[in-house]
Amino acid sequence: MVTPSPFLKAALDAGRAFFRPPAAPAAPAPQAALQGPAVSRRATVRVPIRSIGPRHGERISAHLLALGPQDRYLRFGYAANDEQIRRYVDGLDFERDEIFGIFNRKLQLIAMAHLALSTDPELKSCAEFGVSVLAHARGRGYGARLFERAEVHARNEGVDMMFIHALSENTAMLNIARKAGAKIERDGSESEAYLKLPPADLDSRMTELLEEQLAQNDYRLKVQAKQFWDWLALVQEVRRGVRDSRHRIQR
Ligand SMILES: CC(C)(COP(=O)(O)OP(=O)(O)OC[C@H]1O[C@@H](n2cnc3c(N)ncnc32)[C@H](O)[C@@H]1OP(=O)(O)O)[C@@H](O)C(=O)NCCC(=O)NCCS
Repeated sequence: MVTPSPFLKAALDAGRAFFRPPAAPAAPAPQAALQGPAVSRRATVRVPIRSIGPRHGERISAHLLALGPQDRYLRFGYAANDEQIRRYVDGLDFERDEIFGIFNRKLQLIAMAHLALSTDPELKSCAEFGVSVLAHARGRGYGARLFERAEVHARNEGVDMMFIHALSENTAMLNIARKAGAKIERDGSESEAYLKLPPADLDSRMTELLEEQLAQNDYRLKVQAKQFWDWLALVQEVRRGVRDSRHRIQR
């Protein structure tokens, strides 16, 4: 459940982060570090998660295309190639489903989840959850937070059963589902996790409303900050160019 104080803390953190320049691209984490459950790196900040729409299609593609072959296999259940990923993104139904995202200060989508509402009239109140977190951002609790966010949204949409299809080797995903209270049924190399959801209430509705508002504000701040840093970089580049040509003339 989300209480107001973490929201306030996240809002303050977002405000402070505004004037910090975006970090240089993270060095790829060693494979061993990616595989181990990096509990010690878990973030203490409540990361803003926003609902994303069709205008973020390019960012969704860039996120999924950045996943390595093994992660694509874990995410989609098969080793999706670039073309299949593009087709998946083109086929996203933003009206019916919900896509959630976590953006960094460079506005890269570092983690995303897709809550697909069932189209089968017999299973109207079911939804499937799929998630991916870029390798360098794992072990910070983003996967679990996206799951919580999707859970609240699903309840508010009248969904009473959320399920996740995962490979049995996918310990991280199954851990997230198990911790949320899902029942896991293993069938050889594949597993299904079922989470029964309580009906929506005032708390679930307020939580989603507040969380979305906070995440939209955070995103707007990041857009402004990025514009500012891009502009500053341009000014510095022009200044460098002028200085270099002055040196050349003096020589
Ligand atoms: C599954 C995935 C989304 C998890 O993202 P994440 O942000 O690293 O997950 P979290 O930090 O929230 O960790 C969730 C739990 O899994 C554990 N965990 C994380 N990586 C793990 C690993 N490699 N092995 C075992 N446990 C792991 C964490 O310790 C945590 O458990 P805890 O709450 O008991 O500490 C991410 O690994 C991923 O994108 N994988 C590729 C795509 C995929 O498998 N998608 C799921 C199928 S739809």
